[in-house]
Amino acid sequence: MAASLPMTHAEIRGRIAMIPRLDIALKQTPIEEAKNLSQVLGGPRIFVKRDDLTGVAFGGNKLRNLEFRLAHAMKDEPDTVIVGLDLQSNSARQTVGACNKLGLRTILVLEGRQPNNVQGNLLVDYLLGAEVHFARDREEQRAKLDSLAAAVADAGGRPHILNDNPMFDVASAVAYLEVTLEVVEQLAERQLSPACFYMSSSGKGQAGMVLAQKLLDLDFAMHGVTATDEFHIPSRTAAIANQTAAALGLDLVVGEEDIVNFTDFVGKAYGIPSEAGNEAVRLFARTEGIILDPIYTGKAAAGLIAHVREGRFSKDEVVVFVHTGGTPAVFTWNELWR
Ligand SMILES: Cc1ncc(COP(=O)(O)O)c(C=O)c1O
Repeated sequence: MAASLPMTHAEIRGRIAMIPRLDIALKQTPIEEAKNLSQVLGGPRIFVKRDDLTGVAFGGNKLRNLEFRLAHAMKDEPDTVIVGLDLQSNSARQTVGACNKLGLRTILVLEGRQPNNVQGNLLVDYLLGAEVHFARDREEQRAKLDSLAAAVADAGGRPHILNDNPMFDVASAVAYLEVTLEVVEQLAERQLSPACFYMSSSGKGQAGMVLAQKLLDLDFAMHGVTATDEFHIPSRTAAIANQTAAALGLDLVVGEEDIVNFTDFVGKAYGIPSEAGNEAVRLFARTEGIILDPIYTGKAAAGLIAHVREGRFSKDEVVVFVHTGGTPAVFTWNELWR
């Protein structure tokens, strides 16, 4: 189905509505102007899209995509969701919370060792009632996913291994296409339009925001800031955007050259807080009372802050920081804040 561009918000929402979906997250999350932060930085108008406030189990960016992934999973009527992720995974925490809302049991196979001090996301996983297993590496994790699924089936249950669910990339992109619509609408109510977005991005959500740029034909920049060296983000993001366009029946091509993603705020490595990221976490907390995290959103905010300090934006431009969640990590890294 070809679409003539630009598309209206209603037309885009119509395409999104073609994908089966459950209602799990709080959507239409608020946007707030960070006036103190702007003032301290001497920078542009900064608005924070509070997608950390999606409701379930401390919220975050995975809840919206879980609405599509779990809708896909529910076709097989599972009673148990089994997922393999990292030890301190935001995705794991939100998955367990979402499954609880659907009345599903969750089994986590987390890569890493069981720590002596259970904190952050892992603590919340236990609080939510997940059955937690640990795996040394990806290979052992995969073997455990399969053996646990077999054990559930042998006992008469119906397991769904979420890692094998094909929806993750497209669902994340669709979710952040929708978030972009929300932001554009929320700013339009204030007679404003965005000049630039900043978001922590490993390529999935950003793909949806780049689609929004094209579909709405609006002149805003989309600055992803990655927290990991694991992927080549421009090629990954373009591939996910094209896959998502196809899923939405849109005749549209996104190229690597359409993707802006900054790799210079990762710090030492993925999962290790950085000085600049920690400064950003403190600054948001101390000017606006907004809690970021030192692994994803703090590093993305460090990108925003560095670019404002370089003078990239004029005073009345509107810059949107998308808060993607991850906040339980402040407790895992508790010694950083005293
Ligand atoms: C808090 C937070 N922000 C951003 C991301 C990156 O999201 P995406 O994979 O959609 O780029 C993640 C992914 O785990 C996350 O937990």
